Amino acid sequence: MPETIGWELRRSKPYVGRVRFIKIACKKSFTRRQFRATPLREQKSEGASRGFLDPRRQSRYAKCMMSMSYKFAGVFGVVLLGLSVACGSEPAGGPRASELEPIEQGRRYVESPEFRRGILEASLENPDNLYSRTRLAHYATGAPDSWDALPVRRPSASPVTTADFGSFDTFGRREPTGAPASDPWSAEWTHDGLIALGERAFYTYPLRVDGRLAPVVESRENAERAGFWVDEEGRVGGVVAEWLDNGTEMAAWTCSTCHASVREGGGPLVSGRSNASLDAGELYRLGGIEGTLAEGWRPGQLDPSQDATDNPTKIPDLRAVRYQSHLHAAASVANSLMALTVRIETLLIVSQNATARPPRQLAFAMAYYLWNLPVTKREQASEQAGEAGRALFETNCSRCHHTDGSVAEPVDYRLVGTDPAAALSPARTTGRYRIPSLAGVGDRPYLLHDASVRSLDAFLDPERPATVPGHPFGLDLSAEERRALIGFLHTLPLD
Ligand code: HEC
Ligand code: HEC
Repeated sequence: MPETIGWELRRSKPYVGRVRFIKIACKKSFTRRQFRATPLREQKSEGASRGFLDPRRQSRYAKCMMSMSYKFAGVFGVVLLGLSVACGSEPAGGPRASELEPIEQGRRYVESPEFRRGILEASLENPDNLYSRTRLAHYATGAPDSWDALPVRRPSASPVTTADFGSFDTFGRREPTGAPASDPWSAEWTHDGLIALGERAFYTYPLRVDGRLAPVVESRENAERAGFWVDEEGRVGGVVAEWLDNGTEMAAWTCSTCHASVREGGGPLVSGRSNASLDAGELYRLGGIEGTLAEGWRPGQLDPSQDATDNPTKIPDLRAVRYQSHLHAAASVANSLMALTVRIETLLIVSQNATARPPRQLAFAMAYYLWNLPVTKREQASEQAGEAGRALFETNCSRCHHTDGSVAEPVDYRLVGTDPAAALSPARTTGRYRIPSLAGVGDRPYLLHDASVRSLDAFLDPERPATVPGHPFGLDLSAEERRALIGFLHTLPLD
């Protein structure tokens, strides 16, 4: 077990002891053969579920765990599981009330290092993991080597389109095709100005140049094989050509490479919708790089944590970001518009190996733009299915996921029982998984933090394979009830 896990367990010893008691009590209601525990490290190789192999039994076990934890909460008057917190407390997601208007918060963040530092410290759930330690050591510290002192990066970059195929060399570089664009990275401090800057940055501010993008800008066939979208305007996977100081241009990633996609069957590019096709293993293979961990990842799965362990997560749906209680599957950052801003600023610093920082207004504008992205929901199947589905949702799901798109506090990873690797990541660990917002869930190309299911039907199927362990909720419903519930899920969030 990685050393950092100690933090979570140390902090919550009595709680852990009680959870163990509840677990034993619940397990005792099953025979030994019915309950088969698989040690953590064997789980990945076997693809087997820790605990029950049969999802119906998983469901009974989870229900037992929950009802026991409520009883405890009643008897001792204390909150035992993150789950019980969830049930009694205010929804934690959704837009937060704050004494400042959002745009005022943005100005304050730009001007005040103390304000920035305060936001960072308040948002980090586990100050001891690598993600937190790196930021606490360098962000707005007031010391001369603080990231605040880094030069501000205002690069010139233009989107790569299908007309540019074949114009780059095998390192992803080319001679510049025109004059560098004048600095587009500032805006008026107005709603419209910030949204426009945020969108521009989302699509064209280069995250980092990368020679591994060379095959993608070579041909349409390669781009499609590696899962880079090509949209109606001919833009290629959000890749941009960035001007470098040495007078060449080089292919670079932007946020939109991963965080925008075209739906199956075509149509316009949807901002914030995960690129579930992005295939890092295939990208490396096309570039002649063999034997990487990425070969084992599912499309749309990446490991951004650089923690020397293999724990990829899916690219999340950013249209729902304002509803999330926490950022990242492992719930490492408590969410708010300002926490998101700092998260984006530090991402842009770390992607430049801490040699430069983005203009702060740009980091805020990106967060502001994402915070305001529209959520797409589909029409419900029928009124009747809607009513029945709503009742089923209230009974089975609403203690964790709420109908307005908000969610309860994150839960111990053992409670939800899905693949534990990301919750235990030395880089981001909190020992918990966030409860994802279901706002717009019907338009997500895949589900769960590890992208292990591709549809709501497959997710709620009691026969789902053992490679998708955990989250037993709703698996004991009849086929008709499931249809009604899924119909209802397509209507979320309710206004
Ligand atoms: C190479 C693909 C890739 C690129 C490029 C990328 N991201 Fe992400 N992003 C991810 C993955 C994967 C995660 C999930 C991390 C996790 O759960 O621990 C993520 C998570 C996030 C989150 C947290 C959202 C949530 O609901 O937890 C935000 C916000 C975000 N990215 C914003 C951005 C922005 C802004 C940019 C551009 C500056 C960007 N990302 C570039 C892959 C990418
Ligand atoms: C105990 C709290 C809890 C309950 C009850 C619960 N969920 Fe979840 N749900 C979670 C957690 C935690 C995750 C994230 C697990 C992961 O990613 O590994 C999740 C994930 C999901 C996802 C995947 C969303 C995404 O974008 O990845 C869907 C869909 C979902 N739940 C629907 C439901 C439905 C429908 C019900 C009721 C039948 C329900 N949940 C009941 C905690 C809960």
